[in-house]
Amino acid sequence: MIRSNTYEKVCHQIAVDISNKVKENHFVLGLATGSTPIGIYKELVKIKPDFSKTITFNLDEYVGLEETHDQSYRYFMNEHLFQYLNFEKNYFPNEQNYNQYDIMIKNCGGIDVQILGIGTNGHIAFNEPHSSRYSSTRVVDLTKNTIKDNSRFFKDVKDVPTKAYTMGLSSIMEAEEIYLVAVGKHKKDILERAINGEVTPEIPASYLQQHKKLKVYYSDR
Ligand code: GLP
Repeated sequence: MIRSNTYEKVCHQIAVDISNKVKENHFVLGLATGSTPIGIYKELVKIKPDFSKTITFNLDEYVGLEETHDQSYRYFMNEHLFQYLNFEKNYFPNEQNYNQYDIMIKNCGGIDVQILGIGTNGHIAFNEPHSSRYSSTRVVDLTKNTIKDNSRFFKDVKDVPTKAYTMGLSSIMEAEEIYLVAVGKHKKDILERAINGEVTPEIPASYLQQHKKLKVYYSDR
């Protein structure tokens, strides 16, 4: 079921849900980047839940960008969330750990809640079209479409990394609960195809139809 509301209300609702859940002792939160989740992080910063026993796993990171680069996903998370709230540990896939990332997630008990955005080509994290439903965390080549979409954050399209580390679809699908959020009219069609269309590797987000506890949120803006 798609819950449609204003962006502010969607973000508030998700942040309240997460805050209620982290009251449980140990918690594992899967985090996304991109413009979509920024409002959720803003709301979390306002609510200030106790994340001291929460471990986070980010979905992805560009290959070749230092943590201090203002377009790295580590930098993004520091800017929007980590500088304000105290977590037990924050993990990102990187050159050293990507082969063990799925095991690291399992060893922490698996992801309790995963926040997800969707790319205009139906990707989730950086699992581009034709990714396997059983893919593990790995290095991927970004598609032209993704490079073009993400170039809005860079000075020039040539500055956009062409490779990224991405959490695989196996770990994402094993999350206990998933919040898929799409914002903007340009996401409406791909969200509709992902959620109500055929389950196909061409639209990796369509695998989410097979998830046991998926909540889908859409906002025109
Ligand atoms: C990037 C990220 C995805 C994100 C997507 C959509 O490619 N790797 O995790 O869902 O962008 O981004 P936005 O929310 O800015 O539309």
